[in-house]
Amino acid sequence: MDNLPLYSKQQLALRNGQDKPQIWVAYKGLIYDVTESRLWRNGKHYEHWAGQDLTEELSDAPHTESVFEKFIVIGKLNV
Ligand code: HEM
Repeated sequence: MDNLPLYSKQQLALRNGQDKPQIWVAYKGLIYDVTESRLWRNGKHYEHWAGQDLTEELSDAPHTESVFEKFIVIGKLNV
């Protein structure tokens, strides 16, 4: 975990499913690559957009953070 690259909010924001091919979501300081998820197509997941820190928004979801288990952590959010 300590060797993970750090990404800024601006770098994360470009991976929103619109500006670059990758789709990333930050949760509790870690950045997950959800590009392959059908449920995050074009960066949109229900009323939520990728390319940002969605830690606070998880409480709106009908699921827990276990949904992140199958995704790779590709970096840390540099706050
Ligand atoms: C209105 C709010 C939301 C709704 C209705 C919603 C609904 C769903 C549903 C139905 C699934 C399918 C799998 C499951 O239920 O376990 C899912 C998966 C997932 N959700 Fe949400 N969600 C919401 C918010 C969020 C938020 C805020 C995040 C991020 C913090 C998030 C991250 C994910 C991830 C990473 C998956 C797994 C996708 C996959 O397996 O391909 N969701 N969500």
